[in-house]
Amino acid sequence: MGLRIAVLHETVAGETRVAATPETVKKLIALGATLAVEQGAGIAAGIADGDYEQAGAMLADRAAVLAGADIVLVVQAPDPATLGGLAPGAWVVGAFDPFRRTETVAAYAAAGLEALAMDWMPRITRAQSMDILSSQSNLAGYKAVLEAASAYGRAFPMMMTAAGTIPAARVFVMGVGVAGLQAIATARRLGAQVSATDVRSATREQIQSLGAKPIFVEGVAGIEGEGTGGYAGETSEDYRRAQAELVAGHIARQDIVITTALIPGRPAPRLVTDAQVATMRPGSVIIDLAVEAGGNVEGAVPGEVVQRHGVTIVGHRNMAGRLAADASALFARNLHNFLAAFWDKDAGRPVLDAEIGDAIRLTRGGQVVNPRLSQ
Ligand code: NAI
Repeated sequence: MGLRIAVLHETVAGETRVAATPETVKKLIALGATLAVEQGAGIAAGIADGDYEQAGAMLADRAAVLAGADIVLVVQAPDPATLGGLAPGAWVVGAFDPFRRTETVAAYAAAGLEALAMDWMPRITRAQSMDILSSQSNLAGYKAVLEAASAYGRAFPMMMTAAGTIPAARVFVMGVGVAGLQAIATARRLGAQVSATDVRSATREQIQSLGAKPIFVEGVAGIEGEGTGGYAGETSEDYRRAQAELVAGHIARQDIVITTALIPGRPAPRLVTDAQVATMRPGSVIIDLAVEAGGNVEGAVPGEVVQRHGVTIVGHRNMAGRLAADASALFARNLHNFLAAFWDKDAGRPVLDAEIGDAIRLTRGGQVVNPRLSQ
């Protein structure tokens, strides 16, 4: 019998996504694996149990799916206490959020499991198709704009009607990574007037090429804010002050603000203060996509929509999960691309190389083995 791959029903409250789709089930079976899917795993993403069965998977309860599994695929890695029956040495592949969930990582080590954090996939060309952060951020950026449009009591595009003209909404995107770029493109498609800022100067051209206006701090040390691997680093004190002043002047004239700024391994940078929120026109909307990482916006509450000074601050968790079907389709393909890229025909299973394996492996042989966690 081939390698046994288990697909679980997610356990985190509000998680709508699933780590495999009928499409990836078929492809994994074609590689030589046997697939077992926990009953109901795909329902919230619009995938019925029968769809998985048709693709060739066995449907069963959690205990039966876990028994004898070699690899477990998940979206958000669950507490290993919910993985009873899984043999030591088995792989658990999914998002671990390792810096914030150090106790869970330690529990994986104690359980003898091999935790593979897809959210720590290195940003190298050959790993792009395996990058869950990119695939999910892209959808989150798109959905953030739709959430903003729906919470906003006015239209996005300029409309010239017989009853008079409606001005275009002004949208400001803070943080122009994968999510921010998609937010700019989406807001532009809806007809808004868009501006954007980032600490990485390389984004200036990207902002312009999407037809938006770059808002950048000029002539202050620390402007690059460039960290490693294409990620941002911490900015200098001077830079932060200059950025705050620039943003304060700009934000007061915006209708919609979408923040996406993250710094790996650190709390999200605070970009919008309560005093700045107060300068916005009542009825304005702020979407804080970094809310789960500590928030870019003062007053944003994870999982809640709050009002401050007449401004709606949206703090939805898991924005990509609000597009459960597409988010699952892309996440599942990321996982398939990963397993397929390393599939060793002779071994009948994936065999990782050091560059990617060492980057994403958190635990092995009862130990936490990732150097980023021991630093
Ligand atoms: P991210 O999710 O870590 O951060 C979002 C954005 O916030 C980044 O652009 C960052 O520079 C910005 N930011 C951080 N602190 C800020 C501050 N104080 N003020 C304003 N903005 C701030 O970044 P993401 O979306 O994961 O991508 C970062 C870069 O990596 C992008 O250039 C992207 O194209 C690149 N990338 C490369 C990949 C590859 O080569 N395999 C895969 C995915 C992304």
